[in-house]
Amino acid sequence: MRAGPGALRGHGSLADGERVLLVDAKDRRYLVTLRAGTRFHTHAGIVDHDDLIGQMEGTTVTGSTGRRFLVVRPTLADVVLKMPRGAQVVYPKDLAVMVSSADIAPGDRVLEAGVGSGALSMALLRAGASVVGYELREDFAARATANVVAMAGEGAPYRVELRDVYAGIDEVVDRVVLDLPEPWRVLPHLPGALRFGGIVCAYLPTINQTAQLRAALDEGPFGLTTTVEVLHRTWHIEARSVRPDHRMVGHTGFITTSRLLAPAPATSGSPGVPETSGAPGVLPGLSDPATGPEADRA
Ligand SMILES: C[S@@+](CC[C@H](N)C(=O)[O-])C[C@H]1O[C@@H](n2cnc3c(N)ncnc32)[C@H](O)[C@@H]1O
Repeated sequence: MRAGPGALRGHGSLADGERVLLVDAKDRRYLVTLRAGTRFHTHAGIVDHDDLIGQMEGTTVTGSTGRRFLVVRPTLADVVLKMPRGAQVVYPKDLAVMVSSADIAPGDRVLEAGVGSGALSMALLRAGASVVGYELREDFAARATANVVAMAGEGAPYRVELRDVYAGIDEVVDRVVLDLPEPWRVLPHLPGALRFGGIVCAYLPTINQTAQLRAALDEGPFGLTTTVEVLHRTWHIEARSVRPDHRMVGHTGFITTSRLLAPAPATSGSPGVPETSGAPGVLPGLSDPATGPEADRA
């Protein structure tokens, strides 16, 4: 397989060594690595890998019990939900928004902590970033690296260091992406590690943690802070029955992004940062009183 982000997506007929997704009639999904001469066993029947190798995506094959399986290459979301996990992964709906909120672009240098199972790492790599991960646990670092290599190949621009990000950062990066319990402890290390204007993006499961992070960001030097929660509702669409599905994932996490600000140039007789308070999370002193929080109270 070709190395690097380009290896994330295969083309043409299915090859020995590739990962595929088998989907049965009940929409049960199985992530399988094709190996010539071997068989995949499910309670819905046995599928010969040789029946899949050389086929095109979208083909249906018949297992030993006569049940049929659709075969396609897995999407990133399929892999994240099916791959071996150590730590809890970031859900695909949140991965997409983290990549867009943090504005991850090809060539960006990203520091990620902690890497857990590598789901977020894969999304960052797929967006074209090069990623340095800091991770406390050796088993999680190994798991994340194995998952990334399986997805992106050995040559992916990805390195994981076993270290505590709360103790400091020895990189200079465009973006910092955090999925760990106390991201506010990373903020003091960002000036000098994150370039001015760079984005820090943190994923937190509770609003208490998010409020603590927001309070720490408000102390500066950060601005343009936003927090979002992604509610992802699928729909049942069948003949005359068109409605939201009865089940949805109720809660995963809150995504907070903020930008590192450069010190304002000092003007004669005035401090660098204005003294009046503004909209929380934007920049103290920069909100227009007609549209800022003062207006809400008027
Ligand atoms: C929820 S998991 C991250 C999951 C990951 N985002 C994914 O999508 O697979 C949190 C990780 O942060 C790591 N961690 C916690 N505190 C840390 C610290 N101070 N420095 C580095 N890693 C840390 C944990 O060991 C764990 O692997």
